[in-house]
Amino acid sequence: MSFGSMKTVWCCALFLALSTVTCAKVEGCTLEPVGAEQVVKVLYTTSTVSSGCVSRRPADANLEVHILHLKYSDPSQALTKLNVSLAKGAVGCNHKTVFVLNSNSTFALLVQTEDCPISFISKEPSFVHPNRNVTMMDLPASSEELLNWARRTYGGVSSFAVLENPQHIHFQVGREPSTPENCVPESNFDAGEYLEVEVFSSEIKSCLGPGGPLRETAHVLWLEQGPRDSATQVVDVSVKRTCKGGEQRLLLVLRGQPGILWTINQMSDYMQFWASGKLSFNQISPRFLPEMALPDTIEGLIEKIDPVNRSIASFTVISSAKSITLDVLKCAEPPPAATTAAATSPPAAVTPTPSLLETLVKMLKPWRCTDHGLEIALAKFNLLALPSVTLTEITLDDPSCKARENTTHFFLSSAFDNCKTHLEGGIHAKNQLILTQASTPDKVTVPFQCDLPEKLRLQLYRSPDFAPSSSTTSVEVDKVTYVQVSLRTAEKAPLMPYDCLLQPSGMVPSQQLIREGLPLTHVEIFPDSSPKTSHFSFTYKGKGVVLSATLFCKMYLKSEKEMRFFNGSLEVKIESPSPPPHNQGLGIGAVLGITFGAFLIGVLLTAALWYIYSHTRVMAKTQPAVATLPASESSSSNHSVGSTQSTPCSTSSMA
Ligand SMILES: *[C@@H]1O[C@H](CO)[C@@H](O)[C@H](O)[C@H]1NC(C)=O
Repeated sequence: MSFGSMKTVWCCALFLALSTVTCAKVEGCTLEPVGAEQVVKVLYTTSTVSSGCVSRRPADANLEVHILHLKYSDPSQALTKLNVSLAKGAVGCNHKTVFVLNSNSTFALLVQTEDCPISFISKEPSFVHPNRNVTMMDLPASSEELLNWARRTYGGVSSFAVLENPQHIHFQVGREPSTPENCVPESNFDAGEYLEVEVFSSEIKSCLGPGGPLRETAHVLWLEQGPRDSATQVVDVSVKRTCKGGEQRLLLVLRGQPGILWTINQMSDYMQFWASGKLSFNQISPRFLPEMALPDTIEGLIEKIDPVNRSIASFTVISSAKSITLDVLKCAEPPPAATTAAATSPPAAVTPTPSLLETLVKMLKPWRCTDHGLEIALAKFNLLALPSVTLTEITLDDPSCKARENTTHFFLSSAFDNCKTHLEGGIHAKNQLILTQASTPDKVTVPFQCDLPEKLRLQLYRSPDFAPSSSTTSVEVDKVTYVQVSLRTAEKAPLMPYDCLLQPSGMVPSQQLIREGLPLTHVEIFPDSSPKTSHFSFTYKGKGVVLSATLFCKMYLKSEKEMRFFNGSLEVKIESPSPPPHNQGLGIGAVLGITFGAFLIGVLLTAALWYIYSHTRVMAKTQPAVATLPASESSSSNHSVGSTQSTPCSTSSMA
């Protein structure tokens, strides 16, 4: 559309021989608003509001009054989610909180909160949902009058903020009162202590150059504000590509103020970066790229990008951001050969402006990936935010996968191999919701993706090749066992062992294998080439009879910013080596033999004793007393008693 409006703009600064100002000739490139045909979406989070202030609470110390002035540039997008949470250190909901909501258009606000008593005073008409404690009234339009009104009504305000195109507001209540006596709005106010807003930029411009879409496209993010103090300010940048096809190279230009550290969360081979300020990549290992000097003016930057050879698909000026997501909805079209055909091709690549229902569903994210499959649960309660919408049916991409309904929800669950769900890389599940409304035959389609929950899996092997054929479920005592630990995750950071131990069943002491990342004796950790997987080996030195054990492992994923821990365990069988030789002869036959021998000895001994006894009785009549007989009887009985008595003495504690 904007190819036709080929204007030649000469933004030619004065050429001064000794100055650094160059004659910037930006031929054939005018930045123009992208309009309805959205090429990209830019979502950013910020705590800097265009106008805001804080002050002491109202006279009633148990009351908080917050004024939010919501400004929407597109009334069809006037739908905002408000999350109210308690500030750190706040003890329960001790305060009564009032939000005063004003706006330049009709708006819908979806409120999520912990169970704190909150009431709303809202401009009419608006939809505040859930519709509890909402009082509609005609509020003054200007900030000044609104503040005065609140002071008169409540005896003071806790905070005031003007929010432009807010998609999602995170607000903390229950903070310590601020010190200023009066709330006097300041522009570009930092509300970082209590407020964070997600915003879709409405300031995206583009200039597609004289030749229409070119081989390479550039996206520019121009951040106006730098860090407040001399500290470094981290800005997270993610680039998503929702469009299909078109693997043309993409240049991302990040223009910020000094002191900014750009961290790139997602990156692919086709992406190239120019950044003023430091740049680092979160993937795999932290990597810093040298700073680049980028021109100070928009014209200078455009010239450097070279619009004759690259089209500027988006140029977004953002005043301040903590994180930015660039979602490329429309890929660059194929190079020249196909360009003429593209003019007549169906407008498939054009993304129509989403309907309010689509926006709402995307915001509610009613999908969830579990270990078993996709789960959809859309609360009807939340649909009340759009009173004009009556949903009659929800299906997945496969129309036979239809959501059921109860009084409160639309719900559906399906396995991943069903309902046209695409499971990419075993982790990303993709499908779409198709919503049918009572009022219109047009269906609303909401594509979505969710990731399977992260899960740690332990697997044992007999050999260091970790081949499926050597996979096992048992550990052999005194032999090397190989362990593979893998994490199902979308992250690409390396997975490392932190603590691992083998805990045999019963009272047998455990064998620690790895402690705080270091292998202990009989353990070897293998260097790993692939992320998400880790390998080590160990030799179990257990003594005593152990039949089973549990292998516990605590692993960590280390990215530049954080370390995340995961626990996993595996039940294993223990195989003892064949018993040592001195026990070997004692088969059942030997035992029987010994028993029979003992029996024979007993019989013979008894017979002998009887013989001696009977003879001594005969001899006793002729000879004087021989005292050996009772003694020998008692000694034989003493012997048997003594042998049972000796056992308690032999128990020496092992513990
Ligand atoms: C309706 O279904 C949803 C999702 O399965 C469930 O969470 C909810 O409790 C159900 N409501 C009633 C009233 O049964």
